[in-house]
Order: sequence, then C-alpha cells, then structure tokens
Amino acid sequence: MEAIVVEKLRKQFDPPKGPVAVDDVSFRIAEGEIFSLLGPNGAGKTTMISILSCLLKPDQGEAWVGGFSVTKEPEKVKQLIGVVPQEIAVYEDLTGRENLAFWGRMYGLGGQLLRQRVDEVLEVVGLVDRQKDRVGKYSSGMKRRLNIGIALLHQPRILYLDEPTVGIDPQSRRSILDRVKELNAAGTTVLYTTHYMEEAQELSHRVGIMDHGAMIAIGSQAELVQLVGGRTRIDLRVDRHLQLVAEQWQSLPGVHSLSRDEDTGLQLLADDAAALMPRLLESARALGVRITEMTVAEPNLEMVFLHLTGRALRD
Ligand SMILES: Nc1ncnc2c1ncn2[C@@H]1O[C@H](COP(=O)(O)OP(=O)(O)OP(=O)(O)O)[C@@H](O)[C@H]1O
Ligand SMILES: [Mg+2]
Repeated sequence: MEAIVVEKLRKQFDPPKGPVAVDDVSFRIAEGEIFSLLGPNGAGKTTMISILSCLLKPDQGEAWVGGFSVTKEPEKVKQLIGVVPQEIAVYEDLTGRENLAFWGRMYGLGGQLLRQRVDEVLEVVGLVDRQKDRVGKYSSGMKRRLNIGIALLHQPRILYLDEPTVGIDPQSRRSILDRVKELNAAGTTVLYTTHYMEEAQELSHRVGIMDHGAMIAIGSQAELVQLVGGRTRIDLRVDRHLQLVAEQWQSLPGVHSLSRDEDTGLQLLADDAAALMPRLLESARALGVRITEMTVAEPNLEMVFLHLTGRALRD
C-alpha cells in the first residue's frame, strides 16, 4: 500500500518570474516507510510539505495521501496527518501542558481522552518533568519536542517533520531522531525533511534528493550511492591553507569532485584513489601544507549530491 503518491507536482511562487519551488516532482512513499527529502536551502522541501498538508495548492499535478486527493479531499487528508512545521508554533505564555491541551481541543479532543493523550504525548517527547513550566522558559530543543508532541496528539498514521532538528542541542536532536524511529516502528509512516546528510542516512528507508525544486535522485541509500559509480571517497585534513588546497585540488586530474567543510576537512571523489593519493601528497608538499589525515571511505549521500550537482549539500 502507498501512503503517499505524488504525481508531477509543480508550484511556482509569484509567476511568471518567481521561483519554481516544486518542479514536476513525482514520488511514492510506502506505508510504514521513513522517507527523507534531502536538499539544501531553497530546494523546495517546505513547499512540498505545504502541498501535502493541503496548505498550498499546486499549479499542476496531484498528490494523494492515504488514497485521498490533497486538492479535492483536504479534510480527509488532514485527519490522517500530523505536521511538525519548520517554524515552531507554540504559545510562550502557556505551559507545555496547556499548549498541548489547547491544540488537542483544536483537533476536537476533550475531557478524559484529551488528558490521557496529553499525558501520553508528554511521555513520548520527554517533557513530563517540565509540563508545568511556561514554554517561554524552554530551550529551543524543548520547544521543538513540544512541537512534535502537538503533531502526535491525534495519533496520526502519517507524520511529516520539516527540518525538526535545526538549531537545537545534540541531546534534543538525538532524542528526536530516536522518537521518530520508535514512532515508525509502531507503524507510523514518516516524511522527514533535512539538509543534514547524516540524518537522512540514519533514519530513512529511502531518500529523495531535491535541488532547485526538482527531484534529482530517489532511492535507498545503496541505490543512491551507486550513482557515483566506481569512484572512491577520500576524506582529508590539512594543517593550513584549506582554501588554497581546495582550489588546487579541484582541478587535479583524477579528482572527480571536491567539497570542504568548516575548518580543516576536505572530501573528494576520486576516479582512482590509489593513483590519486601520491599526487595529493606531492601537491601538499609543494604548497607547504601537511596532510594530517587521509582516509578512504565509502561514498555517502553528500558525495551523491556533489556528484549530481557539482556543489556541496551544506553550501
Ligand atoms: N511564500 C513564498 N513566496 C515566494 N517564494 C517562496 C515562498 N516560499 C518559498 N519560496 C521560494 O521557493 C523556493 C523553495 O523554498 P522552500 O521553502 O520550499 O525550500 P526549503 O527546501 O524548505 O528550504 P529551507 O531548507 O531553507 O527550509 C525558494 O526559492 C524560496 O525562496
Ligand atoms: Mg524549509
């Protein structure tokens, strides 16, 4: 059974000149699956979530959630889904518990059932101890968890989470990822968006990679990694001049593509690692740079994105 079917969706903001936020995108999510949309800022992830939440009408195409059309049967769709929006929507002046009760009533829950659902959700998101504190005093990680709790109140079969771990502490992030896995193990279908390759890798059964509104690749991680072909990933660290080194190596023969991270790290995709490594050492020596670490690793989703777009995911 398919939980979500997306057929040739297109959405342009401010036509005719505005950005095409979703450009002829099709994909399917099976019931019980965790599916991640992975893509950089502006890829179209939130626009896709908004269409699948019936908050935004597509210009073209159609999508079905639990068999119901998002354009023709939005009320049916909304009963099936829980949505954790990218922007946190909680009332700072209310306590955590009061927030949940407020949103629960919006979903039509009341009385004993509402109290019970609030108790269960507080447990799931780990906020039992802080339920009586004003949300204004919560950390951003706790607000995020409360936001997730709100989406779980009506026990949705399908859960959307739009970049739920941005800007929070590692402990809250860990807790959110674990909760998502538990909910999925209990039968919830999950649509998760992120620009963190590691999260998509850890969570997903399948991943769709989006860029500039288009779905540029889709599949299991094993399938996606195959797209980089027989190439090898090499992770390197250098002790100085990272910028210069990155520029030089970008055009070194045998370097298929290259990305650098914040401080000292470089990842590159080599056509032939054994042949390339001596050349890297030689080039580093010529630049007066020491390679402090060089590891050959399996290609990951970051490499797939780099391979397909020529850009790093985090840029
Ligand atoms: N309400 C809007 N009006 C005009 N343009 C918009 C609007 N919402 C989004 N866009 C544009 O549509 C494109 C896709 O945006 P979207 O928010 O869907 O990307 P995203 O993948 O969620 O990005 P992020 O990772 O930053 O959240 C971008 O070019 C964005 O500027
Ligand atoms: Mg977004």
